[in-house]
Amino acid sequence: MSGGVLVVTGGASGIGLACAKAMAVAHDRVVLIDLNEDGLATAAAEIGEVGGSVVTFVCDVASSDAMLTLAAHIEREVGPVKTLVPSAGILQNASTVLGMDLDEYARVWDVNYHGTVYTVRAFAPAMTDRRLGAIVTIGSINSYGALPLPAYCPSKTAILRLTQILAVELGRFGIRVNGVAPGYVLTPALQARIESGDRDADMIRGAGAIDMFLYPENIADAAAFLCSDKAAAISGTMIPVDAGWEAATLYRNYAGGVPWEIDE
Ligand SMILES: NC(=O)c1ccc[n+]([C@@H]2O[C@H](COP(=O)([O-])OP(=O)(O)OC[C@H]3O[C@@H](n4cnc5c(N)ncnc54)[C@H](O)[C@@H]3O)[C@@H](O)[C@H]2O)c1
Repeated sequence: MSGGVLVVTGGASGIGLACAKAMAVAHDRVVLIDLNEDGLATAAAEIGEVGGSVVTFVCDVASSDAMLTLAAHIEREVGPVKTLVPSAGILQNASTVLGMDLDEYARVWDVNYHGTVYTVRAFAPAMTDRRLGAIVTIGSINSYGALPLPAYCPSKTAILRLTQILAVELGRFGIRVNGVAPGYVLTPALQARIESGDRDADMIRGAGAIDMFLYPENIADAAAFLCSDKAAAISGTMIPVDAGWEAATLYRNYAGGVPWEIDE
């Protein structure tokens, strides 16, 4: 992973910021791209504290033209991009296909899926020219099964397929493409929902195989591994970082609910 430029979209907050912090010292420069200008300034200061050299840009990943222009500028003025983490994303509250707001539906797809496609299309050509680099996408437990988030869930399923397609497409140029699939991560947004009573902390913590909260750093550790030389033989996969949520959810629904006598 050493040297080169690390680019993280959605880098002002949460998982993107944690990825930038985890991988900063292994790169010459860190580029954070986000819509939140104030957040970018705070994030840059935090990365500076761990020893990274940071440049920030305000840009909407949902604009293909803007991302192409920005990527050309970064390659020219900041340096050769080696590692790419398209983490910008927006969440959705539980809804139905018939009842959901169509503007929200479109925006979730524009940012989460199209934004990831546009980001890769902007940065990957220079990486393939150099035949060097790694990309880690951000999926979700939504990448694997149906949850009541009719825009967000399919957008994250699409990220899983996109990751596999890109791994094959870019693999012949020496670029590895993998993903991480987080469970419920205790970001400031989730913390606020717990404090307002909209989410139950004990239910979230207890839903996995391991009774724990996931923190952005847990996701970043997996992403950093996938970008490192330790993962030189790994491409086209998405690693769940969910404290065993997927396994536990299936298991506990056996026969409509695990029989009480073995659930003791
Ligand atoms: N938090 C979770 O529980 C969780 C679980 C699974 C997957 N994820 C995924 O992780 C990724 C990061 O989410 P997070 O939880 O860190 O959220 P977050 O809100 O803390 O960070 C997302 C960042 O993306 C930025 N952003 C949003 N739209 C943008 C746009 N159009 N252009 C540029 N930047 C934009 C936001 O300003 C924000 O700084 C997302 O893809 C999300 O879907 C999160």
